[in-house]
Amino acid sequence: MPTPLPRLLPTLLIALAWGPALAEAPAPARQAELETLLYQDCGSCHGMTLRGGLGPALTRSRMRAYDREALAALILHGIPGTAMPGWAPLLSDADARWLADHLQHAAPQTP
Ligand code: HEC
Repeated sequence: MPTPLPRLLPTLLIALAWGPALAEAPAPARQAELETLLYQDCGSCHGMTLRGGLGPALTRSRMRAYDREALAALILHGIPGTAMPGWAPLLSDADARWLADHLQHAAPQTP
C-alpha cells in the first residue's frame, strides 16, 4: 500500500514556507491588547489620541499615504536616527500588519 505522505509532502513544504506570510489576523484578545498598546505606548510619544506629541500625529489620511506593508515595516523597525523605536521585540509581523491596517482605517481623522 503506498503511503500518501510523498504526495502530501510538497503541499506540506509549501505550507511551512508560506505559513508566516499567510498568518491570520491576530486573535480578538490580541487585537484588544494591540489597541491598548497603540494608544498607551505609541500614544506616549504620538499623543494619547494619536494627534501628535513628541512624534507626529498619526492621522488616517497621513497613514494612508503609506503602503500597508511599508507602514508595518516602519512600526517593526522604527526610523533610524530618530526617537521612533522599532517594535520588533514586542510585535509579530501579523501584529504590525494589524496595527498598520488599524491606523489606516481607525486612526483619528485629520484634526
Ligand atoms: C519614544 C517615542 C516614540 C514611540 C514610543 C513611538 N514613536 Fe512613532 N515616531 C516617533 C518620532 C519622533 C517619529 C518621527 C520620526 C521622524 O522624525 O521622522 C515617529 C514616527 C512614526 C511614524 C511615521 C509618521 C509619519 O508622519 O510619517 C509612524 C507611522 C509611527 N511613528 C508609528 C508608531 C507606532 C505604531 C508606535 C507604537 C507601536 C510608535 N510610533 C511609537 C516617536 C515614537
